[in-house]
Amino acid sequence: MSGRYRVVEELGKGGMGTVYKAVYEPADKEYDHSDRFVPEPGSIVVVKSAKKTDTAAESLRRERTLLTIFNRNNTPGVPRGYGDFEFNGNYYVVMEFIDGKPMSHYIENANDEGKWISEKMVAKWGTDIANTLVSFSHLSYDGGLSIIHDDLKPANIIIDENGNAIIADFGCARKWNDNILDTDSRVGTSGFFAPERKHRLKGSDLRSDTYSFGATIYAALTGETSNYPTSPALGMRSKRSASDIITRVVHGCMQIEPERRMKPETARDMLRELTKHPYLRSAISVGKTYSHTTQPSQAYDIRNGVLGKM
Ligand SMILES: Nc1ncnc2c1ncn2[C@@H]1O[C@H](COP(=O)(O)OP(=O)(O)O)[C@@H](O)[C@H]1O
Ligand SMILES: [Mg+2]
Repeated sequence: MSGRYRVVEELGKGGMGTVYKAVYEPADKEYDHSDRFVPEPGSIVVVKSAKKTDTAAESLRRERTLLTIFNRNNTPGVPRGYGDFEFNGNYYVVMEFIDGKPMSHYIENANDEGKWISEKMVAKWGTDIANTLVSFSHLSYDGGLSIIHDDLKPANIIIDENGNAIIADFGCARKWNDNILDTDSRVGTSGFFAPERKHRLKGSDLRSDTYSFGATIYAALTGETSNYPTSPALGMRSKRSASDIITRVVHGCMQIEPERRMKPETARDMLRELTKHPYLRSAISVGKTYSHTTQPSQAYDIRNGVLGKM
């Protein structure tokens, strides 16, 4: 790829283009040591590509713009952007490689093994994601409009080696109140979309991300990734008895009416409190395979992606 990136793996391929894991191998003379957002030679990066003539290239250009805004603002919980280039009729965006696995991997594994992801771990992931959403609300894009991710779901959240949740895939991200909703065929395909997005109402804003965030937390807690009850809190109690705090966050974020939804600041602060609990007594789960005595110590060992002791 342009002689600077050696592809080591294909991470994804879809309607939106191809995503590669690659090694950055610049010629000595082109390596700019003064730019703090250029990766070290030899480091692993992610390269997303699309045909220049495809609409996917427009999404990629938007993604690149957002990554630049994140770089400038030191936005936490997102990959650093390393720029873009064109080659052979394709458009490429380069970014930091987050070494880890998507949250969806952990949810599927837990489901397969009939186990729960520990509530404390979900609270930690939730704290990180909500914190990033708070940062989005302080950023502006293209003349003062705020930023929406618009495709927040476990597959687009990478849990890094240290257990931090990093939001990836800004290919769908929009500025607030963009009028592309009517023509956007992608809308409505995911259970993580807010109701106002599913129904193609205009004027959705960061609160739609808040809903998707709630659905993501709900999915991580219950293993449920497609069917949401109209009353998430009740639905959650019937699936898993979680602590009051996290139940309130899910319920607050998944309100049908955007104006009734919890603010990401509130969700973040509540979940952060939860991560500090020395022992989550109220988090003892029902069903599946945990007994009262084993549940709190069972959680994912992030380093190798298998269930282990925390
Ligand atoms: N910065 C990144 N670091 C590590 N893996 C990534 C990164 N960005 C994307 N991926 C991986 O590649 C997959 C596809 O990339 P994504 O940006 O979600 O594109 P799309 O879903 O539009 O194909 C993701 O699910 C994720 O596993
Ligand atoms: Mg994706």
